[in-house]
Amino acid sequence: MLNIRIEKTACPKAKPADESKLGFAKIFTDHMFVMDYAEGKGWHDARVVPYAPFALDPATAVLHYAQELFEGMKAYRTAEGKIQLFRPECNAQRFVDGCERMGIPPVPVEDFIDAVKALVKVDEEWVPHMDGTSLYIRPFVIATDVGLGVHASKNYIFCVIAAPSGAYYAEGINPVKIYVEDEYIRAAPGLTGAVKCGGNYAASIKAGELAEKKGYSQVLWLDGVEKKYVEEVGAMNIMFKIDGKIYTAACNGTVLPGVTRRSIIELCRDWGYEVIEGKLAIADIMQAGREGKLEEVWGTGTAAVVSPVKELTWKDESVQISGGKIGELTQKLYDTLTGIQWGKLPDTKGWIVAVD
Ligand code: COI
Repeated sequence: MLNIRIEKTACPKAKPADESKLGFAKIFTDHMFVMDYAEGKGWHDARVVPYAPFALDPATAVLHYAQELFEGMKAYRTAEGKIQLFRPECNAQRFVDGCERMGIPPVPVEDFIDAVKALVKVDEEWVPHMDGTSLYIRPFVIATDVGLGVHASKNYIFCVIAAPSGAYYAEGINPVKIYVEDEYIRAAPGLTGAVKCGGNYAASIKAGELAEKKGYSQVLWLDGVEKKYVEEVGAMNIMFKIDGKIYTAACNGTVLPGVTRRSIIELCRDWGYEVIEGKLAIADIMQAGREGKLEEVWGTGTAAVVSPVKELTWKDESVQISGGKIGELTQKLYDTLTGIQWGKLPDTKGWIVAVD
């Protein structure tokens, strides 16, 4: 059990009055969890303290070479007022794996979970009440050595912040339009596509901006070698229901192994669907669209939950999906997953961890 010092704020902020206007991660709670790392000393000084800016030397390593990593999770308030997390051990393990790739000393799984629980407990009043809202939790680690040599840092800060949030997309659960990116790439074998490092997201921003200007919510990334196979959307993994079967990219090093992704795959398999994790060519998806076999498309992610896709555009061609509406299976997946997360459905899979 991590020994955590708690220092509560003397000036709590006003909580959002209208939870229907929260948006995604725009305001943050009263506190943050912080823990330091120094070579020879390890992780130490775990604390929950008032939310405040960091003072960083302009030559701090993370500001230049982006040695950092983050996670995304949520805390949910049930109708009985209990606060719960969804599969936090999966995020904690992914964080350990990501630290390994980024040359960062891992935060042990149990300490990661203790840190998240401690912050949520102190700020539990910030977990919103309205249907569809939750407390978005952002654990992250940054390299804090000062100096401009490119090397693994000897000092780090691990921090957890949290933001009461509504839907990630302005569309909410309404279907979004996705642009298949044909010029830029997000990942390639041997790079960092499978870990949640900020650099992956920085590299995606330009393509995202261009797609947004054309009226799309996000881009769908193709593999970085042949630009032929679908990978992920950046803020979410993506799944295709074609002729009754479900397809999604395999997690072979260039795709983020999403916690929502694996949960949705488990649900689909429980319900008797064949789920194929492998290479799926965008040309075949478009062909299925033309033939009326592309039945449903949805994204999965902690922030995005289960997000229906109504249109895919690749090169100069667009295909429409499910008549612009949320598909039947997509809706069932959304209802089941959120039902478990908000405690409206029984947690038959042991996915829920109480914050007490
Ligand atoms: C999440 O779903 O938690 C993520 O980290 C995606 C992020 C880009 C909002």
